[in-house]
Amino acid sequence: MGQPQAPEGAGTGATGVTGAAGAGTATAAPAAAGPSASRPPLRVGMVGYAFMGAAHSQGWRTAGRVFDLPLDPVLAVICGRDGDAVRTAAGRHGWAAAETDWRVLVARDDIDLVDICTPGDSHAEIALAALAAGKHVLCEKPLANTVAEAEAMTRAADAAALRGQLAMVGFNYRRVPATALARRMVAEGRLGRLRHVRVTYLQDWLVDPAAPLTWRLRKELAGSGALGDLGAHIVDLAQYLTGEHLAGVSALTETFVRQRPLPGGAAPGRPAAPGDGSTGEVTVDDAAVFTGRFPSGALASFEATRYATGRKNALRIEVNGEHGSLAFDLERLNELSYHDATEPGTHAGFRRILVTEPDHPYLDAWWPPGHGLGYEHTFVHQARDLVHAIAAGQAPEPSFADGLQVQRVLAAVEESAEKNAVYTAITP
Ligand SMILES: NC(=O)c1ccc[n+]([C@@H]2O[C@H](COP(=O)([O-])OP(=O)(O)OC[C@H]3O[C@@H](n4cnc5c(N)ncnc54)[C@H](O)[C@@H]3O)[C@@H](O)[C@H]2O)c1
Repeated sequence: MGQPQAPEGAGTGATGVTGAAGAGTATAAPAAAGPSASRPPLRVGMVGYAFMGAAHSQGWRTAGRVFDLPLDPVLAVICGRDGDAVRTAAGRHGWAAAETDWRVLVARDDIDLVDICTPGDSHAEIALAALAAGKHVLCEKPLANTVAEAEAMTRAADAAALRGQLAMVGFNYRRVPATALARRMVAEGRLGRLRHVRVTYLQDWLVDPAAPLTWRLRKELAGSGALGDLGAHIVDLAQYLTGEHLAGVSALTETFVRQRPLPGGAAPGRPAAPGDGSTGEVTVDDAAVFTGRFPSGALASFEATRYATGRKNALRIEVNGEHGSLAFDLERLNELSYHDATEPGTHAGFRRILVTEPDHPYLDAWWPPGHGLGYEHTFVHQARDLVHAIAAGQAPEPSFADGLQVQRVLAAVEESAEKNAVYTAITP
């Protein structure tokens, strides 16, 4: 396998830490841990074992087998609330042990890093406890459900950084080789001054009004709907590609279906009653559409929806600059479209860069050119970048401060939408 490149996710803020933060002795490495006994372990404790739990497990399991890492990720403890289910998940995903209370997990002295893969209502509580217990933290996006929570988490992360603990938020779409290449090309100035950023993130899993009222549709659990789920990703990606923070937004949101069937047993205080016809109120947005302005003068448009019939996970971003354009489509994630506007018009035009060359971000360790990566590799790259950052004692990106800034954009979108699209500045 090839040598890792300079970590894409490692920032410049040196913290002086070397190695992992936990004080305990290492557990015996499970069969699924990295391949080398000669590197210090990074013992991971992960909370949540469903969608993101599976994706992160794959990332931790694979990173040390593909990339030459300075620390060996060890899938030490997985945590969920249902004992049988979490033990099954431990076996399936390769974790050595299981806990049923995240507080117990966080208190264990044989864990160096807590990986938070739960709904947003628990991010702040778990992250604050983990940082207080001396752990590094990886937290899924959006960082929190409110700006106040994200501010508290960022304050705690800043204080923890002084003690050598690092914290990162999981905006994994930065880790697609094609988006990382796009970032590199924008930073190199190939597009010149940016004029437009056009981003959409379209899904269709809520089109059916009979789809149940899961946690994603309840504000007290999810914070917001398509906005925090999909919008958070595209705000982060747009800001990452441009290297700028949005200055303000003008937004509309809508909840198309306001009552949905309650899933059995999922409502607090309500006994399981699948199929009894009860409904509950959807308290989040189904779709958010907003425009934004970057300090450089570039204009941006965003659309996030769960109602785009036929679109499954269509994240598309296009950036237009005075010297050229870039376009990316997650459903064709090994490709980046590039138009070089400095070429003569006679043969200029968008061309397809197949982002599978060893010189492309992350690709030196993968397959020969043309063999392609997928969605799950973003989580492998996320684990890789975080391990490098921890070993080097460098603040990882996206940091909790980056997550807080996205949270402020989400809050400005909600405020603008409440005022029928009044332009709303974003607190720097
Ligand atoms: N990066 C991405 O592409 C991406 C994709 C989907 C979801 N997410 C984010 O990941 C997080 C989790 O989403 P998901 O899709 O995996 O949800 P999910 O419903 O599939 O899984 C949530 C898990 O958290 C567990 N859980 C909930 N509350 C808990 C608690 N108090 N203690 C312990 N376990 C608890 C559940 O049992 C379940 O295992 C959310 O923040 C979501 O926004 C990110």
